[in-house]
Amino acid sequence: MSDSTEDPYGTVRNAVVLVRDGLIDWVGAASDAPEGVIASAREDIDLGGGWVTPGLIDAHTHLVFGGTRAGEWERRLGGASYEDIARAGGGILSTVRATRSASLDDLVLGARSRLETMIDFGTTTVEIKSGYGLEPEAELRMLEAARTLGNTGVSVSTTLLGAHALPPEFQGDRAGYIDLVCDEMIPRAADGLADAVDAFCEGIGFTPEECTRVLEAGAAHGLAGRLHADQLSDLEGAALAARMGARSADHLEYTNEAGAEAMAAAGCAAVLLPGAFYFLQETRKPPIEAFREYGVPLVVATDSNPGSSPTTHPLVAMNQACVLFGLTPAEALAGMTRLAGPVLGLDDRGVIEAGRRADLACWAVGSPAELSYWMGGTPAMAVIADGRRLR
Ligand code: NIG
Ligand code: FE
Repeated sequence: MSDSTEDPYGTVRNAVVLVRDGLIDWVGAASDAPEGVIASAREDIDLGGGWVTPGLIDAHTHLVFGGTRAGEWERRLGGASYEDIARAGGGILSTVRATRSASLDDLVLGARSRLETMIDFGTTTVEIKSGYGLEPEAELRMLEAARTLGNTGVSVSTTLLGAHALPPEFQGDRAGYIDLVCDEMIPRAADGLADAVDAFCEGIGFTPEECTRVLEAGAAHGLAGRLHADQLSDLEGAALAARMGARSADHLEYTNEAGAEAMAAAGCAAVLLPGAFYFLQETRKPPIEAFREYGVPLVVATDSNPGSSPTTHPLVAMNQACVLFGLTPAEALAGMTRLAGPVLGLDDRGVIEAGRRADLACWAVGSPAELSYWMGGTPAMAVIADGRRLR
């Protein structure tokens, strides 16, 4: 056991983790194990000196979608901007076309292979948003595909993102589309398919007033709130998320200090998505120092999606959070474990201690900082979810 109070990882050396009925039953140095603890184990996994962390929790993804956007990316490399492409009917709307024409099986199949890679790299809980259907049936089909992915053994938390973009058939009738989200999508999704509701508060998305309506309707149906906020401009989305009692505000590149202060006061977490910052070649960074100062929890996620963050690698997101946003490797790990669970309302995981869910990842690294140091690293040696070995 490390006695250093400076150790941000809470390291326990030569440790034993006893798992029973899907929960952590005992954890500590092997030499401290009460008599019989080790002998009582029915199965023994020797991790050969690897480091064990909580299973990773990816609290913001758009893992279910049809098609890709490689062509759009080539155009962006040639100078077109993400916003120009969106305003010309490409971007999110091009993924909407591909997703609407995909069957449930197509959606599951595509997302499953991406999720399998995430599991290889230690992910045991993933949040998945809708938002590429933009009509009730297609939004619900996305959520159903996401729920189906629970059969991989990971926990899937689902979020309705009906207010992601204005679909072409509602051009000129913004209020009509928000009515559809609030009056039909939310009530239907809240009936077992979605755990939370999200909206894209942005010039190319929805206004703060429109997002307020969506979060209010979600709350009225028992859905927790999330918000894509201040990614490309400062619409004071962070303060809006805080005011609405959302569990998190996400992206936050343009968030101002008052927004950070409001988030802290409301207990609203900052979900940092450095993959989108990197892939869109953004230059404006989230106000990390203000978040630290006010005590806003810093969560890190992949934002896995075909347009702004085509990645399936949680460790790359951790590396980017450190290199691009200045997090410490310990902050990046906490942002994908301990601090990420509460954003999904899952307080039963993300820490290796007795009573928590036995979601664990074991790594062939010499120190936990290496998880963020390698730009991707190597797959986990073992991945355990709910006490069951997935890898
Ligand atoms: O989180 N910002 C909005 N939504 C996604 C990207 C969607 C897309 O481009 O397909 C995001 O970055
Ligand atoms: Fe997103």
